[in-house]
Amino acid sequence: MSAMVPAVIVFGDSTVDPGNNNQISTVLKSNFAPYSRDYFGGQPTERFSNGRIATDFISEAFGIKPVIPAYLDPKYDIRDFATGVSFASAGTGYDNATSDVLSVIPFWKEMEYYREYQSKLREYVGNDKANYLLSESLHLLSIGTNDFLENYYTFPTRSSQYPVDKDEDLLIEIASTFIRKLYKLGARKVAITGLAPIGCLPLERMTNIMHGSACIEEYNNLAKNFNVKLQGTITKMIQELGGIQIVMLNTYDKLLEMIRNPTWFGFERMQKQHAVGLDTSR
Ligand SMILES: *[C@@H]1O[C@H](CO)[C@@H](O)[C@H](O)[C@H]1NC(C)=O
Repeated sequence: MSAMVPAVIVFGDSTVDPGNNNQISTVLKSNFAPYSRDYFGGQPTERFSNGRIATDFISEAFGIKPVIPAYLDPKYDIRDFATGVSFASAGTGYDNATSDVLSVIPFWKEMEYYREYQSKLREYVGNDKANYLLSESLHLLSIGTNDFLENYYTFPTRSSQYPVDKDEDLLIEIASTFIRKLYKLGARKVAITGLAPIGCLPLERMTNIMHGSACIEEYNNLAKNFNVKLQGTITKMIQELGGIQIVMLNTYDKLLEMIRNPTWFGFERMQKQHAVGLDTSR
């Protein structure tokens, strides 16, 4: 694929954080094994993954570069960031109250960093070139899970204020405001993830022992509901904001497909002997 997209610019949470959290004061880090064990050289890279993360592969697929650096990583500067950068922070959410839980970078602050990035880019390549790059770059948002799992269902603050339906509306309003700001700042290509089947995440299934560690249907239904609303808001924005392209990335169906048919995607079940080795009760 030719570089119709000169850079991938990333906002969000642990799903797309390549190491910003390692530069801030939080307990939520991933700079230790077994994280990154399949990454080039196997050195912990501060990605919450065994290897590269989805945005790295997206960047590579556009023919840009194989990994997207973290904005706060002092090893990189605007020369690297001009072709792709991530402002994401593990543990963050749309809601300010979510990032407060583990003292990570709030979503609004990711926007502040992006503004700073734009000034640096203008200085580096000049105004006209910067405007062109920004309008052609893919702005990708991957966020939202923590607003429910880390915040709404864990702490009583939000859930005592309003029902989950209202919480969804609040979060989608924040998403919409964020995308409108990006548009004002010159972005024209936006991709945003819906919620994945969050009731199937390992941590949630662990808590569902009473039901054979099955996926938690309540959470999955919430995700589906959220995604329908988000798609509606996106459709409205496309009508209102001339020249913008916004796509919603359907992580829900894809991830569920992987969970149901892991072998189709090359995943293998853990060998029994390994499973026994992990049993610390013995
Ligand atoms: C989150 O906090 C920032 C900084 O205090 C504030 O500007 C912003 O309005 C807050 N966002 C919401 C949705 O309340």
